[in-house]
Amino acid sequence: MKTLFIHIQELIQIRETEIKKVSGEAMNTLPTIKNAYLLIDNNRIADYGTMNDLGDNKVDQTIDCTNKMILPTWCDSHSHIVYAGNRESEFADRIKGLTYEEIAQKGGGILNSAKKLQKTSELELFKQASKRVEEVMSMGTGALEIKSGYGLNTVPEIKMLRVIKKLNETYPIAIKATFLGAHAFPSQFKHNKDGYVDLIINNMLPLIAKEQLADFIDVFCEVGYFSTLQTIKILDAAAEYGLQPKIHVNQFNSVGGVQVGVSNKALSVDHLEVMTEQDILALQDSETMPVALPSCSFFLGIPYTPARKLIDAGLPLALASDYNPGSTPSGNMNFVVSTACIKMKMTPEEAINAATLNGAYAMNLAETHGSITIGKIASFIITKEIPSYTFIPYSFGSNLIEEVYIDGNKINVGC
Ligand code: NIG
Ligand code: FE
Repeated sequence: MKTLFIHIQELIQIRETEIKKVSGEAMNTLPTIKNAYLLIDNNRIADYGTMNDLGDNKVDQTIDCTNKMILPTWCDSHSHIVYAGNRESEFADRIKGLTYEEIAQKGGGILNSAKKLQKTSELELFKQASKRVEEVMSMGTGALEIKSGYGLNTVPEIKMLRVIKKLNETYPIAIKATFLGAHAFPSQFKHNKDGYVDLIINNMLPLIAKEQLADFIDVFCEVGYFSTLQTIKILDAAAEYGLQPKIHVNQFNSVGGVQVGVSNKALSVDHLEVMTEQDILALQDSETMPVALPSCSFFLGIPYTPARKLIDAGLPLALASDYNPGSTPSGNMNFVVSTACIKMKMTPEEAINAATLNGAYAMNLAETHGSITIGKIASFIITKEIPSYTFIPYSFGSNLIEEVYIDGNKINVGC
């Protein structure tokens, strides 16, 4: 089945196959074609160019995109979208003055979500997560990483990962699974933290690897959570099973997590709200993608990742949602892109590069996602009638999406 999209006002993020990520100054360039066509053949991008170069094509369907733009779907490389219930009462507590860390110390936070998840069946968990996956697809996300980390014990961690696998089998969106058993210490291990690290290494990891439930390994490396030494131990053990790290670092403190990530060949280091010069130096000459999560900073009122410092130091940067019940109850990548421009002073070009191609790189999907490239998966957004791509971050909060195509098919945007 061939579909031809014609008279596209601007076709955004066109790239040659070999470009897998963009860094530093190059992030400020967003290649586009004005008055373009796009041809898809089943679920792949088959051709594109200017309307002047459009030859005679035998197609099954032609769609007119006059005054509309087409860009690749968002690649959200960091989410915790599988969770049970919500934590809106903690939100109300924070409004009254408690901090995220104080709430966690009182047994709220991640442990609160773990309690709820342990009591929730796999089927119910799947139903709740399905709604969120459908929601993010309708908002233009076409590739998504999902973490475990609210199980905090062998059986519920595996339950979460099985839900992620089922989501991947059910929906056309590309999904990568990350094992985050090291998200917090469960209360029974409060006084035996290394005992929990041993449980992750000796019990959880072998079972997860045997069932092939994870693509990546994650650790929340932070004061009060997992130390750098514990992080290294877990990453070393996971490497034996071929799981590459994507780790939570520098959310509240810079304690050497970035360096641990880089020396363990992490695919990405995520959060980075607190960055030192040494952290930036460690990332230079590495293949590790820094990932910023501006919706988390917005929701918690914590500093934003210093995007300008990173990009001006020649580094790449990806943007992701962090969708989770505690620090970011939103998976809206359009808002992420706007917030990155407004609060982190990223240019629209940088933000769109960060939320598409660099996001795909941060989940090992740059071969198939993140740009309009011949041979890549046909996952893209058709905008409403808008004057320019800068209008996308500019009109924050507005829904500018007319249609979303994922894996070659139009999805029901109103779902
Ligand atoms: O990335 N910081 C660690 N984990 C999540 C929050 C988890 C939660 O509060 O439930 C994050 O922000
Ligand atoms: Fe996170």
